[in-house]
Amino acid sequence: MKIERSGFGALPDGCRVDLFTLSNNHGFEVAITNFGGIVTKIMAPDRDGELTDVVLGFDDLDGYLADHPYFGAIIGRYANRIERGTFTLDGDDHRLTCNNGSNHLHGGVIGFDRALWDARPETTSAGPQLRLTHMSLHGDEGYPGRLEVTVTYLVTDRDELRIDYHAVTDRPTHINLTNHGYYNLNGPENGDVLGHQLTLDADRFTPENADAIPTGEIREVAGSPMDFRQPESIGARIDADDEQNRIAGGYDHNWVLNTGGNLDRVAARVVEPRSGRVLEVRTTEPGIQFYTGNFIDPSLTGKNGRTYGPRCAFCLETQHFPDSPNQPTFPSTVLRPGEEFQSTTIYRFGVST
Ligand code: GLA
Repeated sequence: MKIERSGFGALPDGCRVDLFTLSNNHGFEVAITNFGGIVTKIMAPDRDGELTDVVLGFDDLDGYLADHPYFGAIIGRYANRIERGTFTLDGDDHRLTCNNGSNHLHGGVIGFDRALWDARPETTSAGPQLRLTHMSLHGDEGYPGRLEVTVTYLVTDRDELRIDYHAVTDRPTHINLTNHGYYNLNGPENGDVLGHQLTLDADRFTPENADAIPTGEIREVAGSPMDFRQPESIGARIDADDEQNRIAGGYDHNWVLNTGGNLDRVAARVVEPRSGRVLEVRTTEPGIQFYTGNFIDPSLTGKNGRTYGPRCAFCLETQHFPDSPNQPTFPSTVLRPGEEFQSTTIYRFGVST
């Protein structure tokens, strides 16, 4: 088990960017850059032990510096949308930058996905680990409070990528952190993900309006294309004549997990039948955004000169619910001075026989 550091280029201001490769004893390998805390590569075995890179991304730093849909990045301060980029906290009104029509998405114009994180490689008894820290100043993208954030990526011998998020603030604020990995368990150059089989341990989801903002309703999935309580292929009902699928152009919704934050319970499981690769997600978070890459620009060229496109990958973004700062019935995303924000998500790569 080891962690290796190499150069990954420099930012326009000259700051050096690194790439860290974490691997276990079976060849399972994860590469992470401290620019945006982006996971650039995950080499996962199929049922014959053959390793393939199962995430979308770019060959070099320039790809990540240009416009792209948050491939593999840490998302903060707030994953997903805040309606009109406004909220009121303790009687104070706050205005965030709006970067998605009239709404705030994924932390704003320069979110955590574009920060240069301080990086410390570590070796622990559980495996190699990369500790990333970032200081987000009071007023950053309109958010109150100076936020000190730590994200650790750990690779274990069970072919897991474990992500721990931690933050403290000096004023009341909102926080919702995730990782925006895009997965194709066949390798992104091998077609779309419509044949992947998904199971989500969720009886309910949060329907959204035409701007992808939750309406506030928490709705049963039963009888709808959102019901993944039994394994179902991603493509089976993706184009169903259903208002929610039409709004998103596929799936781009928050499911309300049944798991109660229990890391022993599998929240989401994806099986790719041809290769046998399996991805299991466990999390302390109450929700998960299942997104089928509906907005991936077909002209975007990724690793090895391959073009990507809609539905060539899926995302499973563990999170609190979108727009929680404006939704009093959703679990709270408020963080106050003296409190510690803590969240864990584990992505485990396995095989089905
Ligand atoms: C999330 C959002 C989507 C989209 C992608 C990035 O999944 O919910 O609407 O913004 O990120 O393109």
